[in-house]
Amino acid sequence: MIAILISFAIFTSVFSDENILCTTKSCKDVVCPKLSEKCKAQNATHNGVFLLSPITCNCCEFCLDNLNEGEECSKGDVTDPVPKEVCGPGLVCKTNNKDSTDGVCAKMETACTNLQKSYDERGINGTAGTLEVRQDCTSEGEFVPYKCIPGQTCYCVNATGHRIFGEMDFTPLADDLLKCKCSRDYTGIAVVLGRNENATLEPLEHFRCTANGDYDSVQCINDKCFCVDEYDGAPTYPNDKLVNITDISKSTLKCYKNKKAGVFYKDCENEYIDVLKMYNKFKKNDYKKLYGFKFPKCDLDGTYQAVQENSTHKYCVDKEGHVLTSAVVDKGKDSDLAKSMDCKCARARLIITGEDKPECMENGNYAQVQCRKGRCRCVDSDGNQVCDDVNCEVDEKNSPPTCPDPDSSS
Ligand SMILES: *[C@@H]1O[C@H](CO)[C@@H](O)[C@H](O)[C@H]1NC(C)=O
Ligand SMILES: *[C@@H]1O[C@H](CO)[C@@H](O)[C@H](O)[C@H]1NC(C)=O
Ligand SMILES: *[C@@H]1O[C@H](CO)[C@@H](O)[C@H](O)[C@H]1NC(C)=O
Ligand SMILES: *[C@@H]1O[C@H](CO)[C@@H](O)[C@H](O)[C@H]1NC(C)=O
Ligand SMILES: *[C@@H]1O[C@H](CO)[C@@H](O)[C@H](O)[C@H]1NC(C)=O
Ligand SMILES: *[C@@H]1O[C@H](CO)[C@@H](O)[C@H](O)[C@H]1NC(C)=O
Repeated sequence: MIAILISFAIFTSVFSDENILCTTKSCKDVVCPKLSEKCKAQNATHNGVFLLSPITCNCCEFCLDNLNEGEECSKGDVTDPVPKEVCGPGLVCKTNNKDSTDGVCAKMETACTNLQKSYDERGINGTAGTLEVRQDCTSEGEFVPYKCIPGQTCYCVNATGHRIFGEMDFTPLADDLLKCKCSRDYTGIAVVLGRNENATLEPLEHFRCTANGDYDSVQCINDKCFCVDEYDGAPTYPNDKLVNITDISKSTLKCYKNKKAGVFYKDCENEYIDVLKMYNKFKKNDYKKLYGFKFPKCDLDGTYQAVQENSTHKYCVDKEGHVLTSAVVDKGKDSDLAKSMDCKCARARLIITGEDKPECMENGNYAQVQCRKGRCRCVDSDGNQVCDDVNCEVDEKNSPPTCPDPDSSS
């Protein structure tokens, strides 16, 4: 480690004003320090974290030992030399008082790690449900961008664990397939623009996402189109010319995948644009009465939102806008069902390819009690199991488990 620091100091002092170009030759004469035992082992008890090397040109592998819970650690500050070890994933260096830099690695306590702790405790006393899943947290203790219901769906959540746009059929690869960056960024942008209390933007006002919350690789703003990275939304070919929306095709836009040229907007966006044109025409002509315009509600991927309504009914639709006739409620008669309608269950049933499809209520919401193979469980409005399984072999319909108040479980 001392060798690293010394060579780092020499490199920076000698070359700091020059523009160093790293080539394969740059590393020829660098002697790399040996990796520690922990960094080599990378097993459950002995592991380390690989980082960019502080040596110029990143010539050597650079790895810090992960400390386990209860091991001594040092917080250090910016003036200290680069440390050799850090508290491992999910742990923080806890000191006894503010001024002290020496402490002990202890479990992090965040909203996310608290959920893990509660799950682990309930696993020990046998009250965790069989379809309940241990919450995944990042190494900083934050919510990972997805949540999965085994055998059903995985969906996107924001940094505080609340559901946001983006959903797919259950996959064990959610970590790779649900980065949810587009839908996570959307709320931030809507809040910054201060659009309204619900932080919503209209179609054409935001980057378009894909169904799983990634960035759509083709983006068009004011009829000018370009390619972006699906994970971070940054322009993929920043030096390429923007392409007029009428001219987009596989030959003009590298990221364009549709066989037919010139297709960008989806049905919901097209309907929105048509209504908007009409609305603007009436406005220009100074019509006093601007009501009666029915804008469709579009999702972040440009398809129809699950809940739509007309003057008499609220109903669930699929992404193409077709009414799901199993979930239509009368706004007058069934106003409670209409008010709480979220169509999350009705939509999930369209996505799930497995055999265990959830039971939905008349309004397309998840039924609070879900039974399968003679056992019942309570779920929240997103379909997550929220309590112990109850054996209901006797009669599923007449002896449902008592479910907790949905408001107190979140
Ligand atoms: C992990 O690796 C270390 C060092 O190689 C070894 O001593 C230890 O037994 C290993 N532990 C497990 C659980 O494999
Ligand atoms: C099991 O553990 C959880 C979490 O600590 C607690 O809330 C619950 O009351 C416990 N249940 C039983 C039956 O001990
Ligand atoms: C996540 O969503 C919830 C509910 O919409 C909101 O209250 C919270 O502020 C959001 N958190 C972040 C970090 O955006
Ligand atoms: C915000 O959402 C609530 C409930 O969905 C709705 O009643 C209200 O009209 C919305 N506000 C705006 C400005 O869209
Ligand atoms: C670009 O697109 C607009 C509208 O989509 C169209 O009116 C215009 O003629 C196009 N310009 C060119 C140079 O093709
Ligand atoms: C509203 O939509 C529902 C469901 O598609 C339909 O049954 C009903 O007739 C519609 N009402 C009006 C006034 O269009």
